[in-house]
Amino acid sequence: MAMAGTARLGILISGRGSNMKAIVAACRDGRVPAEVAVVVSNRPGAPGLAWARDHGIPIAVLPHRDYPVREDHDRAVIRVLREHGVEWVCLAGYMRLLSPVFVGAFRERILNIHPSLLPAFPGLDAQRQAWEHGVRISGCTVHLVDEELDHGPIVVQRAVPVLDDDTPDSLAARILEQEHIAYPDALMRLLTVPWSVDGRRAIFRKGS
Ligand code: GRF
Repeated sequence: MAMAGTARLGILISGRGSNMKAIVAACRDGRVPAEVAVVVSNRPGAPGLAWARDHGIPIAVLPHRDYPVREDHDRAVIRVLREHGVEWVCLAGYMRLLSPVFVGAFRERILNIHPSLLPAFPGLDAQRQAWEHGVRISGCTVHLVDEELDHGPIVVQRAVPVLDDDTPDSLAARILEQEHIAYPDALMRLLTVPWSVDGRRAIFRKGS
């Protein structure tokens, strides 16, 4: 279902936050009808946090080491998101598995970006996995999050070639450029086009 008005996003990061920056830019220039209500990190030193703060976005730091039980950490993050009126959660390089508690709290309202064409190469170091496998095409996937890792219904995918002289790093850089297009595009679609989920498939209304 598409939502009217301006959606409130919470972005979860653990690191540099380039996808976060792409989402913030798309919200601020009107490509995505949303505003970033808060950026949350499990790592106090995440470079993306300082950037968000410097750009006037509320931030919260919840180190996972402070919560020996995963669900307790997730509940603390959920509380912060609720305090900021968050409706949609964007995982953007958030290096934590979400417990069912989290997934259930924002059912079909959590997005993730993964640097491969899922279902190929889920998990860590996807670009290196693709490079080592010798695929000729790779890319990125934005998907709704369910209880399984890198698994929920796919919203947007963008492909790139894998070149003979690529390294895992050069391939990752080519994919990252497409990630910065794919994430805002997925948000724009989900927030402006009527959609539903049928099994594994996200269905967008025809003609829209
Ligand atoms: C991206 O490659 C994303 O696909 C993966 O983690 C990386 C995060 O990069 N989930 P950044 O922090 O958004 O720059």
